[in-house]
Amino acid sequence: MDILFASTVDDSAEWTEALASALPDARLQVWPNVSDPAAIGYALVWQPAAGVLAGLPNLKAVFSLGAGVDGVIADPLLPAEIPLVRMVDDGLTAGMAEHVAWQVLSWHRRAADYRAQQAAGLWRPRRQAPARDHTVGLLGLGVLGTAAAAVLNAIGFRVLGWTRSPKTVPDVEVHVGRSQFGAMLARCQCLVCLLPLTSETRGILDRVAFALLPRGAYLINAARGGHLVERDLLVALHDGHLSGASLDVFEQEPLAQDHPFWHHPRVSVTPHIASVTDARSAARSLAANIERLQRGEPLRHVVDRRKGY
Ligand code: NAP
Ligand code: GLV
Repeated sequence: MDILFASTVDDSAEWTEALASALPDARLQVWPNVSDPAAIGYALVWQPAAGVLAGLPNLKAVFSLGAGVDGVIADPLLPAEIPLVRMVDDGLTAGMAEHVAWQVLSWHRRAADYRAQQAAGLWRPRRQAPARDHTVGLLGLGVLGTAAAAVLNAIGFRVLGWTRSPKTVPDVEVHVGRSQFGAMLARCQCLVCLLPLTSETRGILDRVAFALLPRGAYLINAARGGHLVERDLLVALHDGHLSGASLDVFEQEPLAQDHPFWHHPRVSVTPHIASVTDARSAARSLAANIERLQRGEPLRHVVDRRKGY
């Protein structure tokens, strides 16, 4: 069984090693050095070049190296009948919960203010509100949003969440669909985006959304750059409606050297590291899913192409 590996970001050597123990019968063909396209049954990809997957005559399933599949669906030649599976892995989930906890706590404990005070040699204790006085809203309560909610709840924050369809999540006040979007945002002192990038969610973090947030709210985007209208954020920061933002993802990655976010005093930039797929744990999830398919069982975590996630 051959697996196509196509990613310009993930390390093919790490995956070769991880798959050697998780799926010993598998042979990796690493794009663009594909020697035998007809032998490829599965593809493991991150933003593959357009048409790469359409050229594989015996492809049975496409596995995304990331939780988000927007970079795979973007291929206009992606075969419609082949199942597309997103990455769900305990390591990836734990990483995102850590990132959200880190960024929410940095905002809550005023890390940027104290860094600036230290740089100025200033000893100035500030009043600290307890976590229970702060409300954090999560856009997206899927695998990652639910894990982030559990960590925030454990710290003591009040947690609100937003989904497309009704669901129950312990200790989270769930808001559903566009009709409840405004009511939720009006209560969020900190808003975290963990949505998939789809035609419905592109540009959702815009001036309309910012105006719905209370004055002084803080934004964390750990989902996709396409969710954010960057110029609207700069305006909202400039006029003081938003107090700051933590951004891990950008419309253009890497972020251009002359981008105003780099040196903005109230923007924190990380280079798309909120949670990175770890080959060792993810190879086991991938192997388990391939083995299900080989036993004739349904694949887990198949993307609904109509919804886009
Ligand atoms: P998921 O399990 O598919 O969950 C998606 C959540 O978003 C669900 O709760 C879904 O609602 C909600 N949603 C989707 N469209 C919506 C809409 N139009 N209106 C309201 N809610 C909507 O996805 P996940 O595994 O948690 O991953 C989320 C995203 O995180 C990925 O797609 C990726 O873009 C991003 N990500 C970023 C990094 C990073 O390093 N920065 C790492 C991993 C993932 P329902 O529950 O009703 O379906
Ligand atoms: C990373 O961005 C992912 O989608 O897993």
